[in-house]
Amino acid sequence: MGLYSYRELSSGFGAEILGVDARKTPNCLERKELKSLWLRFGILLFRGQKVTPKEQVRFSQNFGVITQYTRNKFNNEHNPDILVLSNITKEGKLIGSPVSGRVWHTDGHYLAEPPAGSLLHAIIVPPEGGDTLFANMTAAWKDLPDKIKKRIQDKRVIISRVQSRPYNYPDRPPVTEQEKSEWEDISHPIVRVHPETGKYALYVGGNVPWKIEGMLLGESLPLITWLQEFSVMERYTYRHVWQSGDMILWDNRCVMHRATWYDGERYKRLMNRTTLLGDIPI
Ligand code: SIN
Repeated sequence: MGLYSYRELSSGFGAEILGVDARKTPNCLERKELKSLWLRFGILLFRGQKVTPKEQVRFSQNFGVITQYTRNKFNNEHNPDILVLSNITKEGKLIGSPVSGRVWHTDGHYLAEPPAGSLLHAIIVPPEGGDTLFANMTAAWKDLPDKIKKRIQDKRVIISRVQSRPYNYPDRPPVTEQEKSEWEDISHPIVRVHPETGKYALYVGGNVPWKIEGMLLGESLPLITWLQEFSVMERYTYRHVWQSGDMILWDNRCVMHRATWYDGERYKRLMNRTTLLGDIPI
């Protein structure tokens, strides 16, 4: 029997871990078990956590090395290891990013070394809306028809924030010349091997992939769209309805996620996120 009791959130994907107080430092065995539960379930939920930003950073370090998020405009002013997601304003200024991650994605897909995971702590949640959806990309890969697996298994997807912006974020202003010069295209394998579990997972977010290397756009776009739609079918997803004090850690190497809409005119939402350093997807 393990050190922690848990409840699965959906069959084999996600688990609520009971009896953890994130303010306390786990001992070596506890840390090892938490890490192995994370690798096994892809998402861990810890309820009722009242952590300060500093305590959240410390708890996150049990799972890896913290990295500061690239959109540092919304990092907590006193603790830049925390990315603030919020529609709350202070002295007329937003304290966090008000609209983030509303498209299925994996964090930092556009980086050469995308984060290994992220931990989100819910402080203020709206009474309706603002849920987060998670998709199990290991299960999606496993269930793909063999024909599709063969077609994509050695392929790389070109990530282009510039090319993908107009169709993925039509509500945002066009890419500026400065962004064009800063946002270089990169590529990642479309199927990645988890560096710690050795399991295969689909790696196709819905926000920045542009085309598959070596394929014409007309062939590539429908295939990427099909893979994205396949992997977010209900059977591969879990919807989390937040309660204040919830903390969720997801494995960015095999889980996609998406924030859902809430009425920002009526309700407030405040979430603190820590991000874990990753490596080059293989
Ligand atoms: C994110 O994409 O990290 C944010 C998810 C959320 O706000 O629900």
